[in-house]
Amino acid sequence: MNTARLRELDNNHVWHPFAPMQAFRDEGVPLIESGNGFYLFDTDGNRYLDGNSSLWCNIHGHRVPAIDNAVRDQLDRIAHTTLLGLSSPPAAQLAGELVARTPKGLNKVFYTDSGSTSVEAALKIAYQYHAQKPIGGGRRDLFVCLANAYHGDTIGAVSVGGIDVFHSVYGQLLFETVRVPSPVTFRLPEGHTAESYLEFCDRELERTLREQGDRIAAVVIEPLVQGAAGILVHPEGYLRRVRELTRAHDVLLIADEVAVGFGRTGTLFACEQEDVRPDILCLAKGITGGYLPLAATLTTDAIYDAFLGDPSEGKTFYHGHTYTGNPLACAAALASLELFEANNVLQNVAVCGTRLASRLAELADHPHVGEVRQKGLMAGVELVQDRDGNAPYPAADRMGHQVTLAARARGTITRPLGDVVVLMPAPAMPPVLVDELCDSVFAAIDDVTRR
Ligand SMILES: Cc1ncc(COP(=O)(O)O)c(C=O)c1O
Repeated sequence: MNTARLRELDNNHVWHPFAPMQAFRDEGVPLIESGNGFYLFDTDGNRYLDGNSSLWCNIHGHRVPAIDNAVRDQLDRIAHTTLLGLSSPPAAQLAGELVARTPKGLNKVFYTDSGSTSVEAALKIAYQYHAQKPIGGGRRDLFVCLANAYHGDTIGAVSVGGIDVFHSVYGQLLFETVRVPSPVTFRLPEGHTAESYLEFCDRELERTLREQGDRIAAVVIEPLVQGAAGILVHPEGYLRRVRELTRAHDVLLIADEVAVGFGRTGTLFACEQEDVRPDILCLAKGITGGYLPLAATLTTDAIYDAFLGDPSEGKTFYHGHTYTGNPLACAAALASLELFEANNVLQNVAVCGTRLASRLAELADHPHVGEVRQKGLMAGVELVQDRDGNAPYPAADRMGHQVTLAARARGTITRPLGDVVVLMPAPAMPPVLVDELCDSVFAAIDDVTRR
């Protein structure tokens, strides 16, 4: 089928995620028909560098022989069988490998199929755990989350989210949460210095836990970096402090490593950098190397044990999805984990992270860049109309989106978060391609802001 007909079908029938469809349909979306390494190819024969790791999930590139073969081998056995009442070799093996690699003490793996559902499961597990725990059990129906948090799009995940442009429309549908300020210092509230604001953030978290701790089921946090909020990087020590406070107030800590997990911040899991073991850990995106939909919610034995008992006691976790723990996805995940070691991927992240930092420094004096934020291979460039006071562009100008279109014209795929231009190279991307990514994105920023 030719591109014109495919695009017509797409325009007529596909409702794209997070897309203002009226404008989107006029933009001539590329139809990606193949990939190779870190490049994508569309039906018109154009080649693009995959500059956002196919929405932050690709790790080793596309058409990686070891992962392709693992999926094919599994396909020769069975594509799908359920985890409801049955198990499968890849699901069992992968659970063992995840437990071996995640912070010590997270021994139980509950599979789902997306980041949102991994968070949804975490919230329900935390709530039910408190109701059923052997000592001091009771109703805890409050979750604490950070301002501008993003944990996915299902209703529970939206309830613990805080990005108004995505979430405010659903306000009436959401359950109650307490939102504490996010420890970031770009555009400070009146009267605060960076230092005083970070102290305020700490006090607010401490006060919330002290005053409402006996009602709080868990604090939910994206460790080190709030990705969808615009690559907001937390100060060193913040995650450790959240762990100290949650432990002191007997509140669970849910770490959502959907975006930051699998090497993206420099370590296999972000929690490692602050020596933190959460009570519940959510994994998705990079878990399969970016091949297939799979997610996992890991918990401690103490949490899992609260769900044990005679079936008639009703302690079961009544939750699960049809494709939970899909064997093809688990086979891809096992192959991806092996590649981390075989190809020294974390070493590559260190090299590319340094390279990216030195390239981003070129934007330090750019008249329309208010801030550059980076952790490992997650980077955000905040565009501003005026650096004096960091005045934003009018939202209607869609500057971040314009930069994405300009980068695409230069052969690179990226995706903005409002007016934050995101650079998200895959953890295994060679350094020379990180340069290519920077060259085209920086040129695209110039194309648009100096117009
Ligand atoms: C931190 C975080 N949690 C959860 C999600 C939701 O994941 P999914 O899109 O797979 O549902 C995302 C997606 O970007 C995320 O960044």
